[in-house]
Amino acid sequence: MSDTLQPTPADLSAELTLRPASLGEYIGQTEAKRSLTTLLQAARQRGEAADHLLFHGPPGLGKTTLASIVARELDVPIRFTSGTAIDHGGDLAAILTNLQPRQVLFIDEIHRLSRAVEEVLYPAMEDGHIDIVYGKGPSATLLRLDVQPFTLIGATTRVGMLSAPLRDRFGAVQRLDYYEDAELAAIVRRSAGILNVPINEEAAALIAARSRGTPRVANRLLRRVRDEVQVAGETTISYESAQAALAGMQIDDAGLDATDRKLLQVMVEKFDGGPVGVAAMAALLGESTDTLEDVFEPYLMRIGFLDRTPQGRVVTERGRAHIGRPNATLWGTR
Ligand code: ADE
Repeated sequence: MSDTLQPTPADLSAELTLRPASLGEYIGQTEAKRSLTTLLQAARQRGEAADHLLFHGPPGLGKTTLASIVARELDVPIRFTSGTAIDHGGDLAAILTNLQPRQVLFIDEIHRLSRAVEEVLYPAMEDGHIDIVYGKGPSATLLRLDVQPFTLIGATTRVGMLSAPLRDRFGAVQRLDYYEDAELAAIVRRSAGILNVPINEEAAALIAARSRGTPRVANRLLRRVRDEVQVAGETTISYESAQAALAGMQIDDAGLDATDRKLLQVMVEKFDGGPVGVAAMAALLGESTDTLEDVFEPYLMRIGFLDRTPQGRVVTERGRAHIGRPNATLWGTR
């Protein structure tokens, strides 16, 4: 498993320290911040629960962070759960009936909810009640329970996997996109300030450029670079020390780690660059197809190293050049 991309327990606890607490502190995602600002202000003015919100986009871009900010700005508690943790309608019914008025309920990986669980959610989102069926057949009875007005925040890396009825019940759907390098550099400087390590501009820019558009990766790289600098007895993160630490982690100048490069290499060596089916690629890497599709592919496509075709994935000429395997026939004709 790649050691730079998956959220580790250490990431999650560091994220708690580094996470911005308000929209004002939150860097980037300008469009999402703009629409949330209006939505939250309107809900506060009315004294009502805010509309249900759906955040989608690649992992590590701040969906959970934004949900925490929404709760804080509304001055209500937030309950965290995940689509994978709710197996039965009864699990969700227990959560829903215990909500406090106007509370935020955050369901991560909401595309993982089963249809049966979704059926419990719909009337709660729309009409403020849930229907529980006891027993089967003619003796089945329906119990209707009220739930407090609440704000559901769903998060997903796979908006396409959401059923249309569920998607339609969100009042606002917000896509989070990869961050610009300048935004990531600002995040790195902010985080370094919280971690109490001085960092110079060039070092922050370097870490930003290697962070694959993702704050979680930027903060992870910053923490590792800080460790190196501290162990070396230095007091400031300089460009040179950041560069040495990144090299030690085998993060290259495009932000690729060893797993990314292995993926491109295997595709070129074993499949002549593709097309390769996603299941075969996942098997080659020892990763799940979900991880491949959610974590590795989007970034490699975004930087133009990988293309998706109807026949499968192909390594582009840029991707080949990056791993030192340019297409011989193409180069030969130039
Ligand atoms: N830390 C992680 N993501 C952040 C963001 N978007 N703004 C500020 N700090 C962050």
